[in-house]
Amino acid sequence: MTSHTATFIDLTHPYLEEVELVMRQSAGHHHASLDKAIDHLLSSGGKRIRPIAAILIGKMLDADIERITVHAAAIEMLHTATLVHDDLIDGSLLRRGLPTLNAQWTQGATVLAGDYIFARAARLAAATNSLVLMDSFARGLMTIVGGEITQLFSQEFVTTHQSYLDRTYAKTASLFEVATEGAAVLGGASEETIEAMKLYGYYIGLAFQIVDDVLDFTGEQSQIGKPVASDLHQGLITLPTLYFLEDQSNGKMLIERLQKKQINENELEQIIEDIRSSSAIDRSLQQADEFAKTGEAQLELMPEKPERDALYELARYVVNRSA
Ligand code: IPE
Ligand code: IPE
Ligand code: MG
Ligand code: MG
Repeated sequence: MTSHTATFIDLTHPYLEEVELVMRQSAGHHHASLDKAIDHLLSSGGKRIRPIAAILIGKMLDADIERITVHAAAIEMLHTATLVHDDLIDGSLLRRGLPTLNAQWTQGATVLAGDYIFARAARLAAATNSLVLMDSFARGLMTIVGGEITQLFSQEFVTTHQSYLDRTYAKTASLFEVATEGAAVLGGASEETIEAMKLYGYYIGLAFQIVDDVLDFTGEQSQIGKPVASDLHQGLITLPTLYFLEDQSNGKMLIERLQKKQINENELEQIIEDIRSSSAIDRSLQQADEFAKTGEAQLELMPEKPERDALYELARYVVNRSA
């Protein structure tokens, strides 16, 4: 994940291996092609950041590690399903440096594979033996789908900072919240602690998606493993674009034209280049940094354990990552 081994990796490594096993064991063996596709998806890696957050919080709060492992596997499986559908919706052909399922399968088969993975995730959520967690899992999924639909229909109204943040919460921070809150619930923590860990997930989740949106402008395909400059090509306005256009007299009109894809390729390339070299990138990263710091502040009253230090480090990684 990083060139030097981070403490959050060291502390979670053995449990993450267990998470991988649990995800694979949830196979239903209904069709060999499904098994193969899911195997391929699980082997393609991914940063496993949501399971890492859940494991660290679970360990910090002395939760039963087996239940934490199942919870982390459920979250990662849900995340995997959302990526399968997201790539189909976005028409994206590359993920984690490999061809996406929709690059190889028909739309119909890809939708069904996504559904199947959602169902596997739901079974894992049930295996936590916690109705609270199952409910939070289902509500999280409803929020994510609401966010993706809002994004699909975002051409209908001009994106503002508030609508960007609402969408970012729904599509990304909500799942971080489910991961971190659930881990605290499994730790039998107090209401205050559960709320603090939920907020930790909320804030690092917002920061994580802002950095993802920045990397869409500044990243290299070889590094992030997925196509770059794809958001604006899809008419999707994210924070760097919002900051960039906020300073321009015709900004609002440009946002509308970008959303409606009424911009020719040359002009679009120029705008992307201008955003890349503008202060909008740093301003977006500063916003991500502020969110991450608010997330870190939630750790103040947590038990002084190595896992707490690793959670601070994880919040820093979310902001400073380049992949
Ligand atoms: C990608 O998530 C989708 C977003 C919410 C930005 P990740 O960046 O966590 O994807 P992987 O699992 O590491 O590939
Ligand atoms: C994906 O957000 C969020 C979900 C999977 C719900 P993005 O569309 O920004 O993710 P990438 O950039 O394709 O990974
Ligand atoms: Mg996408
Ligand atoms: Mg993205």
